[in-house]
Amino acid sequence: MKVNYKILLAGSTLAIGVMALLAGSVQEREAERIALATSPIVPEAVQHKSEEWAKYYPRQYGSWKNTKESSQLTDMLKEKSQLPILWAGYGFAKDYNAPRGHYYALQDNVNTLRTGAPTDDKTGPMPTACWTCKSPDVPRIQERDGELEYFTGKWAKYGNEIVNSIGCANCHSNETGELTVRVPHLNRALVAAGLPSFEDSTHQEKRNLVCAQCHTEYYFKKTEWTDKEGKKKVAKVVTLPWHNGLTAEGAEKYYDDQGFTDWIHKISKTKMLKTQHPGYELFKTGIHGQKGVSCADCHMPYTQEGSVKYSDHQLQNPLNTMDRSCMPCHRESESKLKGIVLQKYKRKEQLHELAMDNLAKAHLETAKAMEMGATDEELASARADIRSGQWKWDYAVASHPAFFHAPEETLRLLAVANESAQQARLKLVTILAKHGLVNYAAPDFSNKKNSQALAGVPLEKLVAAKEKFKATLEKEWYKQAEANGNLNAEKSRKGLDEAETAYSK
Ligand code: HEC
Ligand code: HEC
Ligand code: HEC
Ligand code: HEC
Repeated sequence: MKVNYKILLAGSTLAIGVMALLAGSVQEREAERIALATSPIVPEAVQHKSEEWAKYYPRQYGSWKNTKESSQLTDMLKEKSQLPILWAGYGFAKDYNAPRGHYYALQDNVNTLRTGAPTDDKTGPMPTACWTCKSPDVPRIQERDGELEYFTGKWAKYGNEIVNSIGCANCHSNETGELTVRVPHLNRALVAAGLPSFEDSTHQEKRNLVCAQCHTEYYFKKTEWTDKEGKKKVAKVVTLPWHNGLTAEGAEKYYDDQGFTDWIHKISKTKMLKTQHPGYELFKTGIHGQKGVSCADCHMPYTQEGSVKYSDHQLQNPLNTMDRSCMPCHRESESKLKGIVLQKYKRKEQLHELAMDNLAKAHLETAKAMEMGATDEELASARADIRSGQWKWDYAVASHPAFFHAPEETLRLLAVANESAQQARLKLVTILAKHGLVNYAAPDFSNKKNSQALAGVPLEKLVAAKEKFKATLEKEWYKQAEANGNLNAEKSRKGLDEAETAYSK
């Protein structure tokens, strides 16, 4: 028998190779298990740079970076043309997009027309507080300069310091790797609400609370303080209005009791409240929240890679990962569950549109009544309805997914909002008639252009100023941050200079 030694040799070399590879990967996994168990310390001085965590936690880092894939930008002012009317005189009437991946959080804050076009470190329009839910540089600066100093001054003060988007150090201790919250405002709010602090919460609740550092309702509380040199200063401190419970009514009462107003409405002169994104609060009222399911269960599902199991850090829409996000608990088919979610969305949309139309008309009818000579006294009751109704509408929809997280509460709030708007409009019909006007029809707000014109948004001017800022000061910020060693642009700013903005479309 003639043996083909070449084939034999090749075959055994291949077998040895495969065995070596297997042994290698077993060793590698073993090394990884040990590394995970011993929790390496990420040096404090560099913990704000997520790439510094990568060498210990390659899988979490790799999946975290993939939040970049959710890059689609949705201009909500185009989608819902009532919005510029509802927010006339407030930043959101200028520019407002649906959320996308955490990779973009910081850049979107820099890009939005709401943060304006500062020319140096003292110009606004926004306060420093606007950086708070965008970056692991925020706790770094709070710990370095003191919380009140961080909350003092204009947004541009920290442009060259706050340069890394939401990362590992926002949710993990650099020493133990455990879940942590690094911003004091959350624990203050939990205590005010009579709830356990983060440290005293269950592990499952911590898997919610790391998200509640940012996905909550808040306002900037004006706080007078004196610095080390005895200089009197005013800080704008991120504060969660949880003193009367984590509900829309509780927060509204808190603001009313304080006599707090976010802005005076440009069209109707109503003293308005702007809801931010009470995602955590609403989630807790829904069935998943009540049954103890946590944000991470759906948004950071466990993933198996060989013998290593880890949490997928690509925070995104869980409908993209239903096999891992939903199926561990549900028996229905994916398509059936998806259908149920879509149905919830459509039910919300109907009430959402009704409430916005009625609120927008109420603002415009108030303006008409003022034009006809109605006094503030005559309009007080209608304006109170508008304030309260718009607060409830905004609370229901500002954290986009509440229709799924908490469908009943979302629909309840939209129904109450619509009722308040209707009440205001009934009163306005009478006031207008008293001043000699019947059958008044509000002007058309069926597209973004008309609405922004009615709201008096000088769009071209804002865009030109923003583009100049982006070509000058913004570029300077990253250069300085790189020089200071706080930014590794090569690793963490890839594609961001070209990231899409809504205003240039
Ligand atoms: C440091 C603040 C911060 C923390 C902590 C945080 N988020 Fe976010 N999140 C944001 C911001 C800001 C955005 C919007 C980013 C954008 O549109 O540029 C966002 C967007 C999202 C999105 C939309 C992603 C997409 O692809 O559309 C999801 C989902 C999300 N967050 C879930 C979570 C969950 C779950 C947690 C907790 C495990 C969490 N976030 C923790 C600030 C935060
Ligand atoms: C928005 C908050 C958030 C951010 C940002 C974040 N993590 Fe996590 N991480 C979590 C949560 C929640 C868990 C689940 C923890 C648990 O249940 O014990 C987790 C788990 C982990 C674990 C434990 C093993 C596992 O996979 O479950 C490691 C290690 C880890 N993260 C590393 C990182 C690294 C590295 C980064 C940055 C690249 C990062 N995390 C960014 C929230 C976050
Ligand atoms: C039971 C699963 C589940 C849990 C638990 C959960 N979510 Fe979600 N979340 C979803 C689904 C599904 C969507 C997408 C709904 C849709 O189609 O718009 C979503 C959407 C989101 C979005 C918006 C994404 C976007 O681009 O519009 C954010 C932000 C978010 N969730 C944050 C959270 C936070 C914070 C928590 C915890 C307080 C949480 N979620 C808990 C399932 C869940
Ligand atoms: C950790 C377990 C768990 C996970 C993960 C989970 N669910 Fe659920 N879900 C529940 C429980 C518990 C209920 C309450 C109903 C019950 O007890 O039978 C529920 C109820 C629901 C309902 C009906 C309640 C309502 O609001 O009308 C829908 C729809 C639903 N889940 C969709 C999803 C989707 C979509 C996902 C993935 C994005 C998901 N769930 C992930 C446990 C889970």
